Amino acid sequence: MAQNKLVGPPFLGKRQFFNLFITLLLAVTEAARRSSPAGSWLRMGMLTSDALKGEEAPGCQNLPGLSVGQSRLCQLYTDHMTPVSVGAKQALLECRHQFQHRRWNCSLLDDVNVLGPAINIASRESAFAHALSAAGVTHAVARSCRDGQLQSCGCSRMGRPQDLRKDWVWGGCGDNLEYGYKFTQGFVDVRERERKYKRGTREQGRSLMNLHNNEAGRRAVIKKSRVTCKCHGVSGSCSLITCWQQLPTFREVGDFIREKYDGATEVRVNKRGRLQLGDPRYRVPTANDLVYLEDSPNYCVADPTIGSLGTTGRSCNRTSQDMDGCNLLCCGRGYNTLKTTIRERCNCKFKWCCEVQCKTCIKTIDVHTCK
Ligand SMILES: *[C@@H]1O[C@H](CO)[C@@H](O)[C@H](O)[C@H]1NC(C)=O
Ligand SMILES: *[C@@H]1O[C@H](CO)[C@@H](O)[C@H](O)[C@H]1NC(C)=O
Repeated sequence: MAQNKLVGPPFLGKRQFFNLFITLLLAVTEAARRSSPAGSWLRMGMLTSDALKGEEAPGCQNLPGLSVGQSRLCQLYTDHMTPVSVGAKQALLECRHQFQHRRWNCSLLDDVNVLGPAINIASRESAFAHALSAAGVTHAVARSCRDGQLQSCGCSRMGRPQDLRKDWVWGGCGDNLEYGYKFTQGFVDVRERERKYKRGTREQGRSLMNLHNNEAGRRAVIKKSRVTCKCHGVSGSCSLITCWQQLPTFREVGDFIREKYDGATEVRVNKRGRLQLGDPRYRVPTANDLVYLEDSPNYCVADPTIGSLGTTGRSCNRTSQDMDGCNLLCCGRGYNTLKTTIRERCNCKFKWCCEVQCKTCIKTIDVHTCK
C-alpha cells in the first residue's frame, strides 16, 4: 500500500559491524601475503544449491574461483556461501536477460572463466558484470538474513524512517540490507585489495574501476529497496499497519544497472593513482554510476581472444531500429530469412463450465538470422 523510497548513503561505520570489519581486515592482511589465483568467484554461480550442503559439501579450498581472501572468509562464514552462490547465479541469469538482444549477449564461454576473456577488458560490459554480481550477492545475503538462514545476522535493524506516518508500526522482519551491503563489501572487494599495484598503472586503474563498479552494484540494491507496509485486522479493517524494509526484485536491480551501463562514463587513471574523467566535458560520475577504462570491442565477429562469439546466426528483428534490429545486430552484413512453420493454439473458446477449448493453427513466419 504505502511505498516510500529510502534515500541516503549506505550504512557506513555502524557499530554492530565492528567485529565483522576486524575479521575482514585480518582476512585481507592474511591474503596479501599470498598470491591471488586466477579464475572468477562467479563460478560459484554454476554450483547447484545441493552441492553446498550436506556431507559432500566442498571445503572452502575446493570452491571454484575463490581468491585467497575469499577462501578465508569462506572458512569464517561458511553458511554465507549458499547465498553467495545464489547471488552469483541470479546475476548470471539477469545478465543474459538484460543482454539477450545485444551483440554481446552475456553468453557463457566456458565454466572456468564464466564470462570469458570479455571480463578482462576494462570495458562497459565488464563494469556491468562487476556491478551486477556485487548486487546479486548483496541481494541474496540480505534475504538470507531475513529468512534466518545465517548465524551472524537476522532481520534488518534499520531505524524507523522519519517520514513514516505516526500511527503506523515500524516492525516486521525486514530484509537486512545493511548486513548484505557490508558482507558483500568484504567478500567481493577483497580480491582487489589482495595485491599492491604501482600507482597510476593500468592494473591499478583496473582495480579502482572494479571497486567503483562493485560499489555501484551494492548501492543499486539499496536505492531500489523500499519500505513496504501491510494491513492487519479483522476482515481487512486495517486497524493495524506494520511496515518494514523490503528488497526490490532482482529484475528491478537488473533494469537499473542496465540503465547505468547505457550511461557509463569513461575514466582513466592519473599519475596520483586516482580515477579521473576521460573527457573533462563529461559529468563526473557518482558512486551510483558505472565507470570503464577501455572501449568495448564491437563483438561483431567471433574472436575468442576478446571473448566475442560474433553475431552470425543470431536471430534479429527486421523492422526494429534498435540494437535487436537486423541492421545493428548483424553489423551491416545482412541477414538470411527462413520460412518456418509453427503450431499455436488459436480460436480458443470458453466452454461452460469450465474449460477452454482451442484449435491448433499452423502459421508460417519469417525468421531472420544474421549472416
Ligand atoms: C548468444 O550468442 C551466441 C553466439 O551468437 C549464441 O550461440 C547463443 O545462443 C546466444 N545466447 C542466448 C542466450 O541468446
Ligand atoms: C520487432 O520490432 C518492432 C519495432 O520495434 C516491434 O513492434 C515488434 O514487436 C518486434 N517483433 C518481434 C518478433 O520481437
